[in-house]
Amino acid sequence: MSKYAELIIDGKTYQLPIIEGSEGEVAVDISKLRAESKVITLDIGYKNTGSTKSEITFLDGEKGILRYRGYPIEQLAEQSTFLEVAYLLIYGALPSKSEFDQFNSDIKKNWLIHEDVKKIIDGFPSNAHPMGILSSLATSLTAFFPESLDPNRSWDKVNLTIHRLIGKIPTLVAMSFNKQRGVPFNYPNNSMDYVPNFLKMMFGIPSEEYELDPVIVNAMDKIFILHADHEQNCSTSTVRFVGSSQASLYASIAAGINALWGPLHGGANQAVIEMLENIENDGGDVSKYIEKAKDKNDPFRLMGFGHRVYKNFDPRAKILKKRADQILDKMGVDSPILDIAKKLEEVALKDDYFVERKLYPNVDFYSGIIMNAIGIPTQMFPVMFTIGRLPGWIAQWKEMRENKEPIGRPRQIYTGANERDYIPLEKR
Ligand code: SDX
Repeated sequence: MSKYAELIIDGKTYQLPIIEGSEGEVAVDISKLRAESKVITLDIGYKNTGSTKSEITFLDGEKGILRYRGYPIEQLAEQSTFLEVAYLLIYGALPSKSEFDQFNSDIKKNWLIHEDVKKIIDGFPSNAHPMGILSSLATSLTAFFPESLDPNRSWDKVNLTIHRLIGKIPTLVAMSFNKQRGVPFNYPNNSMDYVPNFLKMMFGIPSEEYELDPVIVNAMDKIFILHADHEQNCSTSTVRFVGSSQASLYASIAAGINALWGPLHGGANQAVIEMLENIENDGGDVSKYIEKAKDKNDPFRLMGFGHRVYKNFDPRAKILKKRADQILDKMGVDSPILDIAKKLEEVALKDDYFVERKLYPNVDFYSGIIMNAIGIPTQMFPVMFTIGRLPGWIAQWKEMRENKEPIGRPRQIYTGANERDYIPLEKR
């Protein structure tokens, strides 16, 4: 690969450095282009533009490869646990036993939240969307831990914020869920592990023994692992962008929650179930909905299908599809919407429209079916995605701050009115 790309503008040749990543990805570094040529590049939606160099997650969309810190997602989903994957993403290596035990203990110390948070939760109407509640509560942590606003905090103190976020977000989720269900809050139980404790806080009733189903615990743990990071997606780029202004980690995570909420992104898992239920209620005719998805005049999209990067199967969707079968089978759950999902996938993957555009099922296509079977309300699905993605957001924010990246500030091409004089109101 040559070291430079040559760009000719108005007869003048500019040499732009070429950089190559550890997996052979190649980029043209345009950081000096404007200074030398007064010309910028334009790439609306950043479909072809790299925003950073990162050591955290590698995706190959053509080959359907996903690795966290070099470890294949298939191996981590099969052999690891969510909290161990969180450590791997944030600190860059698999923890030793003592390192993991310390991390686990640090997280447990931070499961509880200030009792005043209940007053914030009580202020929300019962029909408030859980993602709106969660992003507000994440921002409220800046009030309970104001020292986190110091952009020059030591890394030891940032680590405390990391432990607080990973410890408290599930508690905030469970607390707001119980408020909306009108049941008393189930406090965390430090004798339990991360995912079992979360499920008990979500579904348990105080003073009653909550029986954990190992199938459900394992399913939730794997769902969190599969969602833990995904390089520079919309919400992660948002977290890095907000963090680049030296906003606190809590504020950056709250911004990521709001970006993830959109139905084209993390809100797709909720939209998939709503779509499948609509198709079921409409008689289950999947071909009708495939045609709607292809019709440019119809706003309907096949939710859970397509991906900016994967132009092959999303490896997470493959794992979740297999697990959905296993989990529903073990739980003895008969899921008409799973049958509809499989039919949709089968018809779509034979249809030229989807084949030509390389539209395959993504992570959201099957995750909702598993969460639906577990008994998680559909509106809570993006919140589950949030808990899973939290370590990835933290890892990416930490990397951006450690690398002292500059504040994000893209350029634009102005296409508005040229200079004109103001006309006083009485003369208009
Ligand atoms: C996530 O980026 C990440 O890594 C995200 C994520 C993560 O882990 O962080 O993987 C999580 O967000 C997964 C994606 C969840 N979203 C959905 O399932 C929503 C449905 N999918 C789409 O809206 C769409 O596929 C996107 C948003 C995911 C990707 O959109 P792009 O890359 O901007 O592609 P596009 O919208 O330009 O589509 C290209 C073509 C268009 O047709 P033409 O104009 O070429 O004729 O494909 C069509 C689109 O109309 N198309 C679809 C479609 N997705 C794309 N047509 C019907 N149904 C769809 N789902």
